[in-house]
Amino acid sequence: MFAYDDVPYDTEANAETHPSAIATLARLSGLRPAAPRTARVLEIGCGNGENLIAAATYLPRARFVGFDLAASAIAAGVAAATASGTSNVELFAADVSDVRAAGTKDRAPGGFDYVVAHGMYSWVPRDVRADLFAVMRDALGPGGIGFVSVNALPGWELRRALRELARDATRDLEDPAARVAEALRIIEELARAGEGASGFRGALAAAAREYVAHVARATPPEAPFARYVFHDLLADVNEPFSVAGLGEDLARAGLRIVCEAPLFPSRAGAFDGLAADLARTGAPFLQVLVQRDDGELAAAPDASAAAELDLWADLTPAPGGGFRTTTGALVRPVGETGLARATRHAPGFVAVRDLADDDDARRELARQLLAAACEGVLTLVTERPGCATTPRERPCVAAHVRVRAGAAVERGAPSGVVTNALHRSFRVPWSELAVVLAMDGARTVPEIAAEATRRAAEVPSSLAGPLKGASTRDVQRFVDAVIDRFTRHLFLVEEDAT
Ligand SMILES: C[S@@+](CC[C@H](N)C(=O)[O-])C[C@H]1O[C@@H](n2cnc3c(N)ncnc32)[C@H](O)[C@@H]1O
Repeated sequence: MFAYDDVPYDTEANAETHPSAIATLARLSGLRPAAPRTARVLEIGCGNGENLIAAATYLPRARFVGFDLAASAIAAGVAAATASGTSNVELFAADVSDVRAAGTKDRAPGGFDYVVAHGMYSWVPRDVRADLFAVMRDALGPGGIGFVSVNALPGWELRRALRELARDATRDLEDPAARVAEALRIIEELARAGEGASGFRGALAAAAREYVAHVARATPPEAPFARYVFHDLLADVNEPFSVAGLGEDLARAGLRIVCEAPLFPSRAGAFDGLAADLARTGAPFLQVLVQRDDGELAAAPDASAAAELDLWADLTPAPGGGFRTTTGALVRPVGETGLARATRHAPGFVAVRDLADDDDARRELARQLLAAACEGVLTLVTERPGCATTPRERPCVAAHVRVRAGAAVERGAPSGVVTNALHRSFRVPWSELAVVLAMDGARTVPEIAAEATRRAAEVPSSLAGPLKGASTRDVQRFVDAVIDRFTRHLFLVEEDAT
């Protein structure tokens, strides 16, 4: 049985692979990427398709195609897309090698604008890797942009050591859950035993600690076990690449690197230093944007190009001064910086060029804002995403958000994951999901509160939280706060999309 049918992979939306994120980086590199709203997007090895469905629900005029060898994952994705009425996603089960033979032109004559292969290249055999890049090259239109992620050298060498030890120790175990448990036990032991040690032992212990933390982030609380470890560290194939090695493979397929994704502040305008940077930081993972080798040449990412972008400042005034970002970080802009100017438009979108009065000021501002975007404080986009940003009488979250909220609420899960129009995912408690589920464009705010309260009455207080046992006023206050947060965090669909 195929490993990914035997043990499902927990695929979620990945913000960095969204056409808008790719388009922004491509624009900073001097390219003219296709408009995300009407883009044609292909994902190779899309797993359950969640990455595509979550994007498609906000971009009804874009077209998303995905395929994967795991038929069970594709079936789950087709069911999810059908449940949310998402008609602009096509998912099919196929081996990338068969797709290479058949071609992709009938699915997007003229080519796809964006082709994503996340978490695949390092984990498939060499011949399949060649097929993957051939499909990407064949699928991309002349100005199209691809996205590729790999395990990266030299940082991954320490993980290779962890992998060898874990695979060796679990060789005789059949059950995937038992193998993963034993692998994690060994890695945790390495972390403990090498605590404070110097040299290789210390470095290996640090890598072990980092891997354990990484696994904790990659494993949903409801997963039966850390399935990620089974498909990553314990996988039959797991091949890391240097920047040069990846570049050679790409060149053989008629592709080349545009830039790293996401962009780090120190690397803007200095892409040549990527390999040296990877050696210095020891980062075990690398993501790059790629293009066809006959495309318009990309430049090194240039901060001044940020002046042509729009800015999303999701900053809420914090008690005691400063602002809170989406992730809860506190930001205190000082003086007349780009960030300080951006806060005057928060939360909301504003064109970067409108924040400065002349070209010199605009260039400096663009540099500062790009740095803030690299830190995750702000988001730069080539076009505003497909969502409403102001409150509505009858609030309506995207259909797929309701489907995911509904699934978690019905199961009685303590929390569930929902994804916004910028493709950012949030883990949200049951009580908030119950409110979100009622935000269907048909109910007024008091009706949403009534519906969420009705659901809450049927579940234990541990799930219902503030929806149960509180005064009507407190429930209303809680519901208002949830609706406000989901509006500010870009979950509402546009008026004409309902
Ligand atoms: C690590 S998962 C990544 C899934 C998804 N892209 C993500 O990032 O969550 C690798 C995926 O590649 C798929 N895959 C492996 N070999 C394949 C092949 N020959 N053709 C198509 N898909 C393949 C697996 O089924 C699996 O869903």
